[in-house]
Amino acid sequence: MADTLTIIDNRTGQQYDIPIEQGTIRAMDLRKIRASPDDFGLMTYDPAFQNTAACRSRITFIDGDKGILLYRGYPIEQLAEQSTFLETAYLILFDELPTKAQLDQWTLDITLHTMLHENIKKLMDGFQYDAHPMGIFLTTVGALSTIYSDAKRVHDEDGRRLQILRLIAKVPSIAAYAYRHSIGRPYIYPDNDLSFTGNFLNMLFKMTELKYQPNPVLERALDVLFILHADHEQNCSTSVMRGIGSSQADPYSALAGAAAALYGPLHGGANEAVLRMLKEIGTIANVPAFIKKVKGGSDRLMGFGHRVYKSYDPRARIIKQTADQVFEVTGRNPYLDIALELERIALEDEYFVSRRLYPNVDFYSGLIYQAMGFPVDMFPVLFAIPRTAGWLAQWDEMLRDPDQKIARPRQIYIGAGARDYVPRDKRG
Ligand code: ACO
Repeated sequence: MADTLTIIDNRTGQQYDIPIEQGTIRAMDLRKIRASPDDFGLMTYDPAFQNTAACRSRITFIDGDKGILLYRGYPIEQLAEQSTFLETAYLILFDELPTKAQLDQWTLDITLHTMLHENIKKLMDGFQYDAHPMGIFLTTVGALSTIYSDAKRVHDEDGRRLQILRLIAKVPSIAAYAYRHSIGRPYIYPDNDLSFTGNFLNMLFKMTELKYQPNPVLERALDVLFILHADHEQNCSTSVMRGIGSSQADPYSALAGAAAALYGPLHGGANEAVLRMLKEIGTIANVPAFIKKVKGGSDRLMGFGHRVYKSYDPRARIIKQTADQVFEVTGRNPYLDIALELERIALEDEYFVSRRLYPNVDFYSGLIYQAMGFPVDMFPVLFAIPRTAGWLAQWDEMLRDPDQKIARPRQIYIGAGARDYVPRDKRG
């Protein structure tokens, strides 16, 4: 007999057998539970989607208790060790690791789409000199929808693939333009001889030299960080990508929305918030006082805690190793000691242990970015670049999924009942 959940409605005495598939019941099956014919049917109340699966996905698997992260079945540790960001992006998008020929073609296709329309420079120039790069990034990504009007054909598979290529190729260029704008330097065009991250470093940091030569350790470290950030199943920004995409909006508009969700300090803005927190703490001697404030509820230990991971975030473990390699080139980030002391105390403290709060991906990534020369407000943008691959894979999967419709949650209305309009001069 198939797995079922039997529910007896105490109001009517009626019994309902609700099928359980893949550890889940269908919320729509609860609608059958009605006390009377005009009863709408039972709903679930789940603010912040803490216990609701909104899709079936084949892309990313997380076991939050064991600290396991797999992209299409491949452990994140193996990908970080052996893969490259572009290869991982291909895997996430197309379900399998590419053959050599497929990878060469994919790399070439991406490389040929890195240039931005010249109008984008004018758009950039309109921003204040101190505009936050993430604000510039998400605005510019959204603006691309006005350039690629063919992107509206979201049900055309070849069309989707073209927009995917454009977006993955162009997000580093947008990020680099945003950075150059903020420091008043000329924009640098892509260099197609360089790797994905090597070219990104070129567009960020090239000065008067004829050819920019990226430092191979930093180029690889950035590539590893990009692999780690490429996807993370149904997080806040990915749900936004799917939510906007479900109305069949073009992917540029949907991705602008996803980037906006990522911007917040509880999500991808946490890496920036961590650095600001470390700066505020200032010295190791101030760590116990800061932890006390966190436990008192007046502060949050940024870069700690996760909705899904209730053990060490496997990405944080890899990032810690990458940090050591980067610091050998750049010199040690002086905030590292404060971060290590915070982690040491937090991992022993009952408050954090009982709530199962561990360092997440953002706790150490900012220290690396800062050592590499990025200003703090670029950190969320550095997250958005690789996550573009994940957002697009999830968007593509959503559009292919016959179960999906326009996203539209229900509500429990708790406002006033119907009442008559009161003329202005009659209001108390
Ligand atoms: N510092 C102090 N206490 C915390 C922290 C933290 N970083 N995170 C959670 N808690 C506490 C909460 O106060 C709560 O305590 P209570 O039960 O006494 O009320 C308990 O732990 C559970 O926390 P929730 O907020 O209910 O957990 P939720 O799953 O909603 O939030 C989140 C997850 C947003 C990541 C949270 O842990 C947080 O704010 N962390 C800091 C921000 C951060 O690093 N975000 C990046 C996450 S990774 C990413 O998005 C890429």
